[in-house]
Amino acid sequence: MDKISITGGRKLRGTVQTSGSKNAVLPLLFSTLLAEGEHVFHNVPALKDVETSCLLLKHFGCDVQRDGTVLRIKSGKLKSSKAPYGLVRQMRAGILSLGPLLASHGIAEVSLPGGCAIGTRAVDLHLRGFKQMGVHINLVKGIIVARAQGNLKGARILLDYPTVGGTENLMMAACLAEGSTFIENAAREPEIVDLAEYLNKMGACIQGAGTDLIRITPKKSLLPQEHKVIPDRIEAGTLLLAGAITKGNVCISSCVPHHLDSLLFKLEEAGFFIKVSGSSVELSSPERFSGVNIITAPYPGFPTDLQAQFMALMTQVAQGVGSVKETIFENRFMHVQELVRLGADIQLDAHTALVRGGRVLQGAPVTATDLRASACLILAGLAARGETVIHRVYHLDRGYECLENKLSSLGANIKRFK
Ligand code: EPZ
Repeated sequence: MDKISITGGRKLRGTVQTSGSKNAVLPLLFSTLLAEGEHVFHNVPALKDVETSCLLLKHFGCDVQRDGTVLRIKSGKLKSSKAPYGLVRQMRAGILSLGPLLASHGIAEVSLPGGCAIGTRAVDLHLRGFKQMGVHINLVKGIIVARAQGNLKGARILLDYPTVGGTENLMMAACLAEGSTFIENAAREPEIVDLAEYLNKMGACIQGAGTDLIRITPKKSLLPQEHKVIPDRIEAGTLLLAGAITKGNVCISSCVPHHLDSLLFKLEEAGFFIKVSGSSVELSSPERFSGVNIITAPYPGFPTDLQAQFMALMTQVAQGVGSVKETIFENRFMHVQELVRLGADIQLDAHTALVRGGRVLQGAPVTATDLRASACLILAGLAARGETVIHRVYHLDRGYECLENKLSSLGANIKRFK
């Protein structure tokens, strides 16, 4: 297993480019099951989760060719309608094959994603929506066995919770249904807007993506197109926080600044200077900081995927004690005990962490538990005195493309060991 060694204490400076968005490209890949022919995606990041999704698409019968950041997917005759546990277990986004398979073939068997480090990852809202669209769902030995009698039926779906994956799954399924579908209390993430843009390019008629009411007017069939994946707002936020925690001065290019508004406002509240110009965001650091508190929330609130990384920053800049409230996942504080190993002072109380600021962190061996916890520990290592060695960095590779190279291009002393 690979590990990463960081010797902290250097202020990061310079410019680094954001890669394509993991959470936008994954649903885009599964949307290819809605239209036969060759789909072309640009700005595709080289991530483990993208590889796993491509294996799943090949399993369904697609031909997948990658050429640098361009991915060509030839979708054709379905070879199988079963998404095996072995692949879905590795990457929960495999559940996003359910909607497209049901819409195009009326049949799908997808393993229940199962839990992961950060929580149960329930899909009950996805399934309830499909049932409203006329799908029969049975759970057989951990497999979702779904069958549609003929075409899916348009429905008025009111989600109990603005689930990102549920909104994406149901939006894709509704494109080929009979009759219009309304998704109320829909998630508003930029990745949903990007997916809707591609579905509309393919000939769908989706209105309201990015708001909490999405209307899908169905079409008989869709045609494969070409699309550039939006930049990864979570990677951009992570890189900005690397500049912040080292009290440096960094510029993140090729991102969409307004996708990061909740983070940018929090950084300014903490005293950092933020300059937005076009597709770049520049951060410079003040002498003195102000304390901040964060509460994670569905977009446009503070993203849960940046909670761990921001907590690392708070060990340095919080004045007194700052609070971090996690409202999205039930178990997304596993990075806390690892930060404490580095000398952080954090008290946990159910879904709130109280972080004492102004701490000098000492490098130590730590273990990554999940994707964003890995990023949090890297950021902490950049600020810690001495060497921090992070074990189990395979978690990192699921969602970040060569993060250590990007950080060393900003001056970090970071190395990966096979
Ligand atoms: C997406 O996961 C992202 N993944 C996650 O990013 C992100 O943290 C999450 O949205 C929230 O923003 C991808 O886009 C591939 P949800 P998803 O459905 O779709 C509960 C990362 O680090 N829920 O909005 O699985 C669920 O248990 C990953 O890049 C139900 O109860 O998120 C969770 O507590 C981690 N029933 C909460 O809602 C359902 O049917 C949010 O889940 C669906 C969800």
